[in-house]
Amino acid sequence: MAKKLAILVLAAGKGVRMKSDLPKVMHNACGKPLLGWVLDTAEALEPSRTIVVVGHDKKMVMSAFEQSRVTWVTQEEQLGTAHAVMSIAPEMKDITGDVMVLFGDVPLVREQTLRDLLKAHRAQRAACTILSAEVADPDGYGRIVRNKDGKVRAIVEHRDAKPKQRDIREINSGIMVFQARSLFETIWKIKSHNEQGEFYLTDIVALLIKKRRKVAAIVVGDEREIVGVNSRVQLAEVNKALRMRILERLMLSGVTIVDPENTYIEAAVEIGRDTTIWPYTVIESGAVVGKDCEVGPFAHLRVGAVMEDGAEVGNFTEMKKARLGRESKAKHLSYLGDVNIGAGVNIGAGTIVANYDGKNKFVTEIEDGAFVGSGSVLVAPVRIGKGATTGAGAVVTRDHDVPDGGVVVGIPAKPLKKKATARKQKSKKKKNKR
Ligand code: UD1
Ligand code: CA
Repeated sequence: MAKKLAILVLAAGKGVRMKSDLPKVMHNACGKPLLGWVLDTAEALEPSRTIVVVGHDKKMVMSAFEQSRVTWVTQEEQLGTAHAVMSIAPEMKDITGDVMVLFGDVPLVREQTLRDLLKAHRAQRAACTILSAEVADPDGYGRIVRNKDGKVRAIVEHRDAKPKQRDIREINSGIMVFQARSLFETIWKIKSHNEQGEFYLTDIVALLIKKRRKVAAIVVGDEREIVGVNSRVQLAEVNKALRMRILERLMLSGVTIVDPENTYIEAAVEIGRDTTIWPYTVIESGAVVGKDCEVGPFAHLRVGAVMEDGAEVGNFTEMKKARLGRESKAKHLSYLGDVNIGAGVNIGAGTIVANYDGKNKFVTEIEDGAFVGSGSVLVAPVRIGKGATTGAGAVVTRDHDVPDGGVVVGIPAKPLKKKATARKQKSKKKKNKR
């Protein structure tokens, strides 16, 4: 039988350096909280169980992940990363095999990197294997101290490092794998004699070595994977890295992204082949875009936006809980909220779907082949029938549905009377003759 793997995610800290009322792991990156990225990567490793240590604002954190099947453990006071591990004491007796420790604030690490780490750990039969990184700027990270033979001796935290040690550029990513037994035996020996008076998980390295257990460190191939989010500057860095991954995946699946540097697409967005995304477009989690669509420049698709195949959305058009049917177009300056738009519809420039009356939101229906004139305001709830037309600047008031093939104009919009028009035009002609 394969050796068991338990994953332990530390996420109890407040994240003082974020200067925020929100717990750090709940800060958003590309439509998902930081912790969500870590939990998704953890899940991909198919561990026998995942335990998440929470503390600061734990109710909020737990409720955000109600769906996931992790075990929550509370660390009442946050006395350091080793203390966080100690807080899972009631679970320890059920855990055998290996334990991988992940940090809730290190969201970029890839599944493959963790698989490689675990493989190296098992192959070397180490008690502990650290994922380390060679970085240009080691500021703030724990340093990996090796002896002359290159064997890992200890990890020294930045605050406690001597000037010589501060020059070390190999740092601790925070990600480590342990033999469960070694971890649970040794964790209790960790003391808090350091600059911060905290129980550092990193101190376990020197303790294991004293016991003549093997400690290894493997250097990550791409050091960008192990960026820890401690400040909003790093949050922005991580956000960008995740965004580029999302865009790359979409491009490789057949989506044209004209200018990735200036395109913002969150996690969990579906886009079909041969669709083109023009610059300065924002597409939020949950939006679905079909094949052969055109999106942007400057388009904003929010939650519940659905563009069916061949649909087009252009400059300064915002969609929210809105379906734009096949080959339908909303090319300029529109707000489409809570609206169901059929196929082959033209939404004129500046059309606004007024979905909100200050208290409630209502749904608007626009049927196949309708033509909504420029500057129309459709006050929900209202239905624009099949092939119906609204004149430029029409304000279609609530419940004043336009029948199939109907034409309405004016404020408030009224059916256009063909006879009246004919008469007017005649009298106009007379006037002109005079
Ligand atoms: C930690 C490591 C450091 C490493 C760096 C990588 C220690 C002592 N230091 O430092 O060697 O280079 O990460 O990013 O481990 N947490 C708890 N309970 C606590 C304290 C922290 O759950 O009592 C959680 C935090 O929520 C966070 C993670 O542990 O997700 C790391 O804590 P943090 O305070 O950010 O550690 P660093 O100072 O970054
Ligand atoms: Ca950190």
